[in-house]
Amino acid sequence: MSPRYAHITGWGMAVPEKILTNADLEKMVDTEDEWIVSRTGIRQRHIATDGQTTATLAADAALRALEVANLLPHEVDLIIVSTSSPEHIFPATACLVQDQIGAVKAGAFDLSAACTGFIYALYLAAQAIKANGINNALVIGSETLSRLVNWKDRDTCILFGDGAGAFVLQASQEPGGVLSSVLRSDGSGGDLLSVPAGGSRLPTSLQTLYDGQHYIHMNGREVFRFATRVMTQATQEAIDAAHLKLDDIELVIPHQANQRIIEAAARGLNLPMERVMVNLDRYGNTSTASIPIATCEAIQQDRLKPGDHVVFVAFGAGLTWGSALAQWSGPFPVERKVRPKRYRWSARLRSILRRLIRHIEGLIWGKNNIIL
Ligand code: ACO
Repeated sequence: MSPRYAHITGWGMAVPEKILTNADLEKMVDTEDEWIVSRTGIRQRHIATDGQTTATLAADAALRALEVANLLPHEVDLIIVSTSSPEHIFPATACLVQDQIGAVKAGAFDLSAACTGFIYALYLAAQAIKANGINNALVIGSETLSRLVNWKDRDTCILFGDGAGAFVLQASQEPGGVLSSVLRSDGSGGDLLSVPAGGSRLPTSLQTLYDGQHYIHMNGREVFRFATRVMTQATQEAIDAAHLKLDDIELVIPHQANQRIIEAAARGLNLPMERVMVNLDRYGNTSTASIPIATCEAIQQDRLKPGDHVVFVAFGAGLTWGSALAQWSGPFPVERKVRPKRYRWSARLRSILRRLIRHIEGLIWGKNNIIL
């Protein structure tokens, strides 16, 4: 069998309209715009409003990505939603997205690797395509971390924002697409960045609520030290694994956590900042969504073109870190022009019908069971 490649053929992003500026934060906690900008580079972030959730943002981003790729929802084989702010412990947010966009033939699951999650998800989808298991995948990073942030904790509340980004990956025998990936972890640093309560180890109770254990807890200095160490290393490893050189890379798109971390990584690589994408000033740290959101903006700004080599690199809770190198593709040429957003209504109708049928079946079978 000739080799298969996993090309990135679609991309989309979605952020809430509501913006929270540093000036707004000055009214909420003891902080200053100057401190936030000089320590992080962040000036504002988008915050989800009522009705906007991790799944709705993910579905919006996914439909935009499908439109770019000219792919219909029912042609998607696999949906991976990477998130640290899932709608529930279960069902998976990916299944809610599957239902909202009407991807009737797709398998769907969530992936938890914090801010590195998008890299992990990209790797898994690309491998599934290369192994001939599937043809078309949606890889989504989506977060509403604003709902896990303690808005009284100035150490963390200045950092995070909400949003989602998505890639469509498609199989082809043309060389290109995702060429190498590096996945790493170190659970010994798990306590440096965590939401301690709400899982099986520390189930939610009045005490955990009282102690604020359901919020994000972070040792910022330690995470900073870890991040500056691994970002340079992981970028170089992905380049080596693809048998390329740094000079072959047109753009590095790092996880958008902190301007100083990104600059330190670029310095470590001897890479000019013109070849590094940064947009965290307007979005804050959107965790696993930050790389696809930054990618969408790089394309809008004409900084990423078909044929270019791009490295995605991230770090996050876990601890996790990783990178992926791709030769940028763009949409496959097709005659048709699809508008996946139009399928939203039919997906909703289908979902209601399925619930209704399930209800009726329950009534019928429930009654029979009583007779038996
Ligand atoms: N406003 C004003 N002062 C503040 C604020 C604030 N918002 N937050 C902390 N300070 C104070 C501290 O109390 C401290 O005061 P002290 O010296 O009197 O004790 C002082 O500022 C310096 O604090 P540091 O923690 O040393 O500040 P630092 O330069 O390390 O910056 C920051 C803090 C921005 C959090 C940085 O450590 C960082 O970015 N770390 C990485 C965090 C990160 O990227 N997390 C996300 C990981 S991705 C994921 O998985 C979700």
